[in-house]
Amino acid sequence: MADPTRRKGRKKSTREKKPKNSNRVSDATVKRLSKYYRTLQGALSTEKTTISSEEIGKLNGLTAAQVRKDLSFFGAFGRRGLGYSVVDLHRAISRILGLHRTWHVCLVGAGNIGTALVHFKQFAEQGFIIRAVFDSDPNKVGHEVGDLVVQDFSKIKEVLDAEGIKIAIVAVPAFAAQRVVDQLVDAGIRAILNFAPISIFVPKGVAVRYENMAIEIEALSYALSSKGVKPRQILGE
Ligand code: NAI
Repeated sequence: MADPTRRKGRKKSTREKKPKNSNRVSDATVKRLSKYYRTLQGALSTEKTTISSEEIGKLNGLTAAQVRKDLSFFGAFGRRGLGYSVVDLHRAISRILGLHRTWHVCLVGAGNIGTALVHFKQFAEQGFIIRAVFDSDPNKVGHEVGDLVVQDFSKIKEVLDAEGIKIAIVAVPAFAAQRVVDQLVDAGIRAILNFAPISIFVPKGVAVRYENMAIEIEALSYALSSKGVKPRQILGE
């Protein structure tokens, strides 16, 4: 793919085009787009007007070619030789990621993690507004978490319909997570961020993402433990 930020020649439009084949965009590409989005937010705050694929790549530990390839899935951006317009690319990635709008979110499980998430201001700043908190524990239902009153999980369907909620955060114990997820999907949830340390099963058309600090810290433990040791040596082979 030609580098739109370097090559001279016919000017290319900054107009965002429809993805050629959006269902082939990998999770890894989407995650990198989120990184580029943050880079562009940083650039906006410095009033920088243009940015090259080299700069975006460098700030994210990636090559310029990778940046260009990721963006090419979504059409042509930038002008050859001039780099990308920070404002235009920020707006385009925001639309690609669906961040140009506000999403109403519900949270299930008003425990340690759930309570911390309700107080996590950055969600709202990014357009993810937690509008409802549910729990099954009668001792928690009716109590406040942040500005919200914990509701009985059995009320899920009516609340989701009333609030137009399609995204749920699941912060219940592992043993309860699959059943909670099934009920959420039945009630109309189409995207789930799961904190419970189990794999959950959802029907086609429902997106799931996992947040698991244990896995991340195990990766750190591996990085320290396995220094200079080949896998076969660990297994005693
Ligand atoms: P917690 O015990 O403090 O809170 C869990 C809440 O879920 C409780 O309020 C409980 O009443 C509620 N709950 C249980 N069954 C339910 C159901 N069927 N419907 C609705 N609510 C239900 O637990 P904590 O510490 O907040 O952890 C929550 C989950 O997050 C656990 O699965 C835990 O293993 C996981 N976790 C994940 C981490 C991560 O990095 N992803 C880090 C720490 C915990």
